[in-house]
Amino acid sequence: MNARMFRRQLNIQYKTPEQIEKMRAAGLVVAEALAAMRDVVSPGVSTAKLDEIADEVIRSAGATPSFKGYQGYPATICASVNSQVVHAIPSPAQVLHDGDLISIDCGAVLDGWHGDAAITVPVGQVAPELQRLATTAEDSLWAGLAAAAQGALSGSGRLTDISRAVEVAIRRSGRFGIVDGYGGHGIGTEMHQDPHVLNHGRPGKGPKLVPGLVLAIEPMITIGSPKTVELSDGWTVVTQDGSVAAHVEHTVAMLDDGVWVLTADDGGRSRLGDLVTSRA
Ligand code: MF3
Ligand code: CO
Repeated sequence: MNARMFRRQLNIQYKTPEQIEKMRAAGLVVAEALAAMRDVVSPGVSTAKLDEIADEVIRSAGATPSFKGYQGYPATICASVNSQVVHAIPSPAQVLHDGDLISIDCGAVLDGWHGDAAITVPVGQVAPELQRLATTAEDSLWAGLAAAAQGALSGSGRLTDISRAVEVAIRRSGRFGIVDGYGGHGIGTEMHQDPHVLNHGRPGKGPKLVPGLVLAIEPMITIGSPKTVELSDGWTVVTQDGSVAAHVEHTVAMLDDGVWVLTADDGGRSRLGDLVTSRA
C-alpha cells in the first residue's frame, strides 16, 4: 500500500473546442478589466477605485464578477499591495504610493464560463529589486504556459511539467521565495476545479496535458521567505517576514495544435509564437 492509494480521485472537467470558445469570451472580459485597471494605477489611487473600474467593465460586457460572493468574498478584485500576497480586499483607505508593487486578481463569469487572471503592476517608480520580482513572476508564468503547450503538443506532458517549468524560471532569476500552500487550478463552469497546480515540484507527475484541459496558472513569489500568514479578516494573505510579493495569473486552454491563453488579448502569441493554437 502506498500513499497514492489514499489520494482523492481527481474530477477534471475536460472542455470541447466549442466550450473553450466560450471560455475565451470570458477571458477577454477579464483581460479588458485588468487592462483598464493597469491604466489607472498611479500614486493617489485607492484599491476601491480599481475595484469600481473592474466591476463596471465586467458588467458592461454582460458578465458577472466571479469573486463577489465567492465564499463570502466582498469585492470584484483582490488588490494585494507590497507584503500582501493574495486575496487582499479593496478599500478606499488603501491608497497607492509611489514605489508600491500591486498585484490585481480578477475573475468574471460569462454565459456560465469562468475566466481568472492577475497582473502585477509597479506604482510610479519602484526599486529595481521589485521590478525584478515582478518580471520574474511574469517570466515564470510564461515558462509554465510554454510547458503546458509543449506537453500538450508532444502528447507526453504531465501537469507537474508546468510546476517544474515555473519553478526553474524563478530559481534562474534569483533567490526568490515560492509561496507555500497556494497554486493554480482547473477552471471551467466553476472558478476552482481540479487539478491543483503547484508552482514547484518534480516534473512528470499528475494528469496528462491533453486537449480540453483548461488551467489557471498563478505563480506567487516573494523577495524573502515563502511563508505566509492569513489576516483576521479571513482573506488577506501577507508574507510572514513582511517582504514584498508578486502574483500573476492566466487562464490557458490546451488544444490539439497548441495552447490558447484565454485571458491574454493576443491569446499568448507574442510570448509563445507557434505554441499557440491556430484558433487564437
Ligand atoms: N484568482 C483567485 C484564485 O484563484 C481567486 C480569488 S479568491 C476570491 O485563488 F475569493 F477572491 F474570489
Ligand atoms: Co486563480
